[in-house]
Parts: sequence; structure tokens; C-alpha cells
Amino acid sequence: MSDRGSFDTNAITLTRFLLEEGRRVKATGELTTLLNAMCTAIKAISSAVRKAGIAHMYGIAGTTNVTGDQVKKLDILSNDLVINMVKSSFTSCVLVTEENDNAIILEQESRGKYVVCFDPLDGSSNIDCLVSIGTIFSVYKKCTDDEPSEKDALQPGRNIVAAGYALYGSATMIVLSTGQGVNCFMLDPAIGEFILVEQDLKIKKKGNIYSLNEGYSKYFDPAVTEYLQKKKFPEDGSAPYGARYVGSMVADVHRTIVYGGVFLYPANVKSPKGKLRLLYECNPMAFITEQAGGMATTGSMNVLDIQPESIHQRVPVVLGSPDDVQEYISIYQKHHK
Ligand code: F6P
Repeated sequence: MSDRGSFDTNAITLTRFLLEEGRRVKATGELTTLLNAMCTAIKAISSAVRKAGIAHMYGIAGTTNVTGDQVKKLDILSNDLVINMVKSSFTSCVLVTEENDNAIILEQESRGKYVVCFDPLDGSSNIDCLVSIGTIFSVYKKCTDDEPSEKDALQPGRNIVAAGYALYGSATMIVLSTGQGVNCFMLDPAIGEFILVEQDLKIKKKGNIYSLNEGYSKYFDPAVTEYLQKKKFPEDGSAPYGARYVGSMVADVHRTIVYGGVFLYPANVKSPKGKLRLLYECNPMAFITEQAGGMATTGSMNVLDIQPESIHQRVPVVLGSPDDVQEYISIYQKHHK
């Protein structure tokens, strides 16, 4: 190692990457500014996640700490961080967040041309027990000249301009796509910058891991039951698939993209539309999965082709390695002719 220690003096930071990409396509810089604002929010959320236990940010919102100050729950703090960072970037006009019932329409003086849908802290059941959680977001262009409204967020995922997620795991990583493949940036806490660590990430054609909440087996659609049976008892005599389920979509999808395989949150008799939300969970993850060479389906259609009807709409989702998802589609279609 050189006397520069472990520092790579030519490391590509997320900021540098975005500036270079923007310059290459002769962009105005508005998307770069927006993504940098999102990146700053993510750094702040990451810092809050890492010290939440010490700062009494677990549990119920509105609790007071030992000095009597109001302590925000981690998911509320994360929501405020994303809203404030995006708002002050002057790049967006409509925000849809998991935490707010209605879309947020930004005031005239802070508006820009983008619409941002996000889940500020996904994997809520895992927050208080220190299991990986994440932030998910997607960016669209406002599609009409009308006054900004909730309708601007009701665009199919095909229109996504950029999507990404941050995983607060054993390290903090941002996985980002602006429609030119998928790139991964790891947070270096020593310098507070996201560094490019994986360029043009691609998913395996076929994996050997399936991921879903199998506790709901009693309620499964017969297509899901048959599919899982085939993964556990392959007819060609090959080894059975392994099972992994964190219960945080970001962690389960990230593992699926990195190791290959399939992630499922299908509809069941208790949740006829599935659980996961189209705008800020399924669409961004479907976009990234496709950009990595994978597929994302409801069983009957490609997730990115769904015309959203409401901002908090739920849809069934099965995504991952193309061969694994294709096999699910064939079985689903056989059961739902
Ligand atoms: O939507 C929130 C979420 O926590 C996802 O991150 C995760 O994939 C899913 O819910 C887990 O749901 P369940 O507890 O029903 O398996």
C-alpha cells in the first residue's frame, strides 16, 4: 500500500458520477441536483439509523427523551429529511410519500419539473430490532402543463427517469439507475461520501434462492404453492432452492439482485392485492431489477406497465432473475386462464 494509506485518490463519488453522467447527455443539471439532495437526505437517515438506539428514536412517535425534548420516531424523521432536502433543491413539484395520506404539492417558489415518490424508511417491523432497513425512491417528470397535483404521480413505472434505494445494512449503500444500467455506491463514513463500488450491476439469469413470507402458506394462491413446490422439489433432480426472508423489501430485493433468485410478495386470500405499494416500493424496485437484466411481474402483467389509480395502491409483485420470474409467470397463467 502506498503512503496515501487506504484512500483511493481517484475514487468516483456519487456526486462526481452524476455530474459526469449529466454532462455526457447534456442535461440541465436539475436531476443531478435532485439526486444529490436525495443523497444528502440518505446520509442523514443513515446517521440517524446508526445512532437511533442511543438517541431514543425507536418506538412510538412523540416520546420525550431524558432532557424532556420531543424525539421523533425514525420513520417520521426520515420522512421530514427527504421532504425538506428535496423541497430545498428547487427541482420538484409533487411528492408522494408512504408517510402522508395525500400528495405534497410544493409551493410555487420552490417548484421544479420532477415528481418524486418515496418510502423514507422501509421495513418498519425491523427498525427496533436492528435488522436492515432502507429508503426507496423514484423520479418522474411532470407530464402536463396543468397546476401540479396528485395526478402527476399517477404515471406508469415505464416513465421513471431515475430510481434508487438505500440499504442501511452492515454498510450503507445506494443502488441507483437513471435508465443506463445499475450502479452501487457505498458510504465511506470517514469522508461522508458515497463511492462507486459496483458498475453496471447485472442479475444472474437464474438463481437458487426464493424469498417470501412463507408463514402465509395457508392463504396462498395455488399458483404460488405450485411454484414453491417446484423450487423445493425440482423435477429435473437439481438441488432445491434455499430460502431467505428478511422482511425488509430493500434487503430482500438487494440480495435477490446481487445473488440471483426470486423475491415474491404475491396476492393471497387475506391480501387480495398483495401488500407492497406500487408507487414507492414495487415500481422503483421493478425499474432497478429490469435495468439489472431481471424481470418484475404481478403474474398477469409487467409491474412497470400498470397504470396507477391511486397513490397508495398495492400490487402483487414477483421479481428477480429472468428465468425464475418467467417460470412463475407460466405457472400463474396456467392457473389464471
Ligand atoms: O411494506 C413494508 C414491508 O416491511 C416491506 O419492506 C417488506 O417486504 C414487507 O413489508 C414485509 O411484510 P410481511 O411482514 O407481511 O412479510
